[in-house]
Amino acid sequence: MTPQRTIVGPIYEIAHSVLAECAEFQQFQAGGIARAEFAGFLDAMAPALMAAGLPAEDVHFAKRYPVSEGAFVADRLGELARRGLLPSAGYDTVRYDELAAEMRAHHYHGRFRTYIYPEEARLLFAIADVVRPRSAIFLGSYYGYWAHAALTAIAADGGHAVLVDPDPRAQEVARYNLERSGLAHAVELATTTGEEYLGASPRSFDFVVLDAEGPRTHPDPEQRGKAIYGRLFRHVLPHMPPGAYLVCHNILFQDIAECPYFDGIIARNRGELGPFLDLVGRELRDFVECTSTEGVGIGVRAG
Ligand SMILES: C[S@@+](CC[C@H](N)C(=O)[O-])C[C@H]1O[C@@H](n2cnc3c(N)ncnc32)[C@H](O)[C@@H]1O
Repeated sequence: MTPQRTIVGPIYEIAHSVLAECAEFQQFQAGGIARAEFAGFLDAMAPALMAAGLPAEDVHFAKRYPVSEGAFVADRLGELARRGLLPSAGYDTVRYDELAAEMRAHHYHGRFRTYIYPEEARLLFAIADVVRPRSAIFLGSYYGYWAHAALTAIAADGGHAVLVDPDPRAQEVARYNLERSGLAHAVELATTTGEEYLGASPRSFDFVVLDAEGPRTHPDPEQRGKAIYGRLFRHVLPHMPPGAYLVCHNILFQDIAECPYFDGIIARNRGELGPFLDLVGRELRDFVECTSTEGVGIGVRAG
């Protein structure tokens, strides 16, 4: 029997290791074939992708890949600026390209895998680079992979951040990467829940990133899966002044791939995120769904 490979780091790398050599993928990225045709190609490639270690459901998520990572982020920033959510749409693309290459080569993942996709990491960096937060909080920071991109922009501009996650093993990996990349001076690691941290902290935050997730078997429905966003948003609201940003992973309500698999994901999101979205509707000036691979929501506190 072949032993199961332990795969760590970005899930995207697994798919990319198979797709990079395929003409259909190259054509999709060059704008030469439509998303529907690319989706059909991915269905045909599913056995090879899964043999490389890609979880079956991520074959469907691959149908949402942007044609171009850079163009996706430029378009979303343009839209956010037009809607008045960002002061401008320009970010330091050269610095991000260097950072992404450095992370691909050297970022340590420990035993963890991540469902943060390249365009989502670039988008978070870009928003942080445009907004220049003074004080950021990441709730459910996991091993700090998504945060890392933004932290580079935040620290370069003299800002400070706290990464909150109750998993000590994840926090150890985050610490290693922060020390390795010279960012530790600008970042506090809080090995606790967001609720506990926020309950004991008087600080306010002008940049809040939500990516926590509870076990789907949690006895409290408010802490099951992404339902925890509602609870964490309630706890962080008193710490968010008017104009503070909220960026969340897994905001997926539009099926850009026209794939029935996403009917179930969207139904689950409606169920889990309903109370969170009600609060967002009351407390944020606007909230935009960016249709990245897993979906990113961005809004600004009203007032
Ligand atoms: C698994 S990660 C999300 C993964 C991320 N989307 C990615 O692919 O990189 C979710 C994290 O939320 C954390 N978490 C769960 N409940 C939390 C809470 N109440 N406050 C802060 N973090 C929490 C978990 O410990 C976990 O590290």
